[in-house]
Amino acid sequence: MRYLIFNGSPYKGNTWKLVKLIQKELLEISPESTFEEIQLSDLELPFCTGCSLCFRKGHEYCPHHKIMQKIINKIDESDGMIFGMTTFNMYPNALTKNLIDHLCYMLHRPHFFKNKAIVVTTTGGVGAKSAVNYIVGWLKGIGFNYCYNLAISSYSWNDYKVNIKTQKKCKKLAEQFHIDVSSKKMHSPTFAVLIPYNLFRGMSLGYIKGTEYETQDGIYWSSSLRSKSTYDSLIKVPFYKKVFGEFFYIIGKLSSKFIIITYKK
Ligand SMILES: Cc1cc2nc3c(=O)[nH]c(=O)nc-3n(C[C@H](O)[C@H](O)[C@H](O)COP(=O)(O)O)c2cc1C
Repeated sequence: MRYLIFNGSPYKGNTWKLVKLIQKELLEISPESTFEEIQLSDLELPFCTGCSLCFRKGHEYCPHHKIMQKIINKIDESDGMIFGMTTFNMYPNALTKNLIDHLCYMLHRPHFFKNKAIVVTTTGGVGAKSAVNYIVGWLKGIGFNYCYNLAISSYSWNDYKVNIKTQKKCKKLAEQFHIDVSSKKMHSPTFAVLIPYNLFRGMSLGYIKGTEYETQDGIYWSSSLRSKSTYDSLIKVPFYKKVFGEFFYIIGKLSSKFIIITYKK
């Protein structure tokens, strides 16, 4: 399996120890696994300027497209990702948040449907869960098929000793992740994923080509594969979830008649 290790922390600290532990466990389970690393701080990604070109014209118009496309390609090429970031003030650190800002457009036009991830963070004492949940929610929103998580209180600044209980957790997580990733099984989307997906599908009708405020969203959702389907064609959706998704599609479609996001031309 090809794994991508993504470090959203500005350094290799307490969280990094857990990321490396999971990597070691994955290697023990499956020695032929390969790992590629992205240290986000090395990429020197400038702050998102908020130009909104990604939403309106396409992500290739982003002033930082070269860096972003490299990241997107690496995720695309991997079978599984270990995403580590630190927790500052109960949420992901600013470097990681800057990455999220650059990929916000994918909440409107999800992309990574075949991908799975483990999200890892540590805190001194409190806030790891909220930070991890924030990342998991974002990854699911941009298409990730399944996310595991590990949120640990390290009770330390830069001097974390991983206890036996956490070592066991890392081992179990690596086993579960390896089984899931190597099975290539696609999980059906949750209700929480189907709601925004189908709202965007319906609302996009207000932005299709030829409308006053046409955007890339309108183009993405009007493709024949996407416009008629409750979720991406790669993934099977049971009938009851299709009904659920279609309900939110109708709400999105109705609201597109009353709410339009404008922009300066
Ligand atoms: C700027 C900053 C903010 C922090 N915010 C929190 C926090 O909100 N809650 C907490 O329990 N610990 C907090 N800590 C402690 C770190 O989360 C903790 O040391 C963590 O294990 C660091 O992981 P890292 O070495 O991977 O960066 C903070 C530390 C720093 C430097």
